Amino acid sequence: MNDAYAQWQARSRIAVWHPCTQMKQHERTPPVPIARAQGAWLYDHRGARYLDAISSWWVNLFGHANPRINAALGAQLDDFAHVMLAGFTHAPVIELSERLAALAPAGLGHAFYASDGASATEIALKMSFHYWQQRGAHDKTRYVRLAGGYHGETVGALGVTDVALFRAPYGPLLRSNPVLPSPALRDAGDVRSAQRAVDDAIGALEAYLRSDGATTAALIVEPLVQGAGGMAMYDARYLRRARELTHAHDVHLIADEIMTGFGRTGTMFACEQAAITPDLLCLSKGITGGYLPLSCVLATDRMFDAFYDDDVARGFLHSHSYTGNALACRAALAVLDIFRDDDVIAANRATASRWRNIAAPLSAHPRVRNPRQCGMIIAFDAHSERKGFAAWFAERAAASELLLRPIGKTVYFMPPYVVTDAEFALLVERTLAILDEC
Ligand SMILES: Cc1ncc(COP(=O)(O)O)c(C=O)c1O
Repeated sequence: MNDAYAQWQARSRIAVWHPCTQMKQHERTPPVPIARAQGAWLYDHRGARYLDAISSWWVNLFGHANPRINAALGAQLDDFAHVMLAGFTHAPVIELSERLAALAPAGLGHAFYASDGASATEIALKMSFHYWQQRGAHDKTRYVRLAGGYHGETVGALGVTDVALFRAPYGPLLRSNPVLPSPALRDAGDVRSAQRAVDDAIGALEAYLRSDGATTAALIVEPLVQGAGGMAMYDARYLRRARELTHAHDVHLIADEIMTGFGRTGTMFACEQAAITPDLLCLSKGITGGYLPLSCVLATDRMFDAFYDDDVARGFLHSHSYTGNALACRAALAVLDIFRDDDVIAANRATASRWRNIAAPLSAHPRVRNPRQCGMIIAFDAHSERKGFAAWFAERAAASELLLRPIGKTVYFMPPYVVTDAEFALLVERTLAILDEC
């Protein structure tokens, strides 16, 4: 216990209540104390390294300790770090709002900020409900969500999430919003074609909106990939039709691109692949390249106008202390500069196809089911009877210098975009070796 590494572990277990963690499991596998990080690698206090193959919970795009983001933050620190955004404004938040509006699907010109993804979900849900109240549609009091959807873990966000493990303890607190079939093939035993799954989901949405559209404020979806629900991927056709149907039935479409935004699915935003503009677009995670907490809801003129009034009480009176934090906005601007200057979306198209080739041997492994890719996300389901598969796999991965965190039996790669081909090959090679032990 003299070694500093073990001491950090022991102190963390006593003082830090870790997120999404059964703390007792740390008796057997204590948290890994990280001392520094560079590019796609994390280094612990003993000097061991871990390839950050899931971008530190899907936030990091351009590597740790990125010199361009570091420089932007240093410059902003010399001016100021934070100022309240009610009654005040500043260049970073204005520039960021203008640039996000220019990059997002057309018509989303009003940016409302918060800090984490779940707060963005809360804002979108409140805005949608409040919009209908202001417009006199008082019966529109619920949301409709998709099976396997995930939108965060605050109480409102959990109300539109469909992951039993996270919802179950809070059942009595949660709204029982209706759940519609997912357009993704989510179950290994599902023998439908991918297109059939989309058709079925569209049919169910159509039927739901016909009977319940009048009492529904919004449909909330994760465009193209349902992430935390198991990296379930589906065709853009569903989104196109969902947009038409929600328009026709006067129901808002909330696109939660907290995970899919900023290039993860191959385009800047997944909605682009369906050529749709949602009523509300939720962004977070990659927005600051994994540096600082920032989230944003982009809204249409129509949404904004419903709150624009002489009466204060008709405004959207929602706030968080750190709304529009200048440092976080500066990090986000540096991220957008990198996207522009390095033509990242075009470069990623080539990277995604190289990843596909490098990962090809996985598809042939007898333990691999349903291998899939959407842009910069590669996933498969492991065929294994092993109890506690996810924890076991993550432990084996750490012993092989990989940070991987399967969701159930779904193993996925979502590294920073800057990971080299050699690093990606190492990721695949070591994953294959772990699969051999399954
Ligand atoms: C699609 C989606 N929405 C919302 C969230 C919640 O974001 P946060 O963890 O920052 O609250 C997540 C997080 O994984 C997510 O993937």
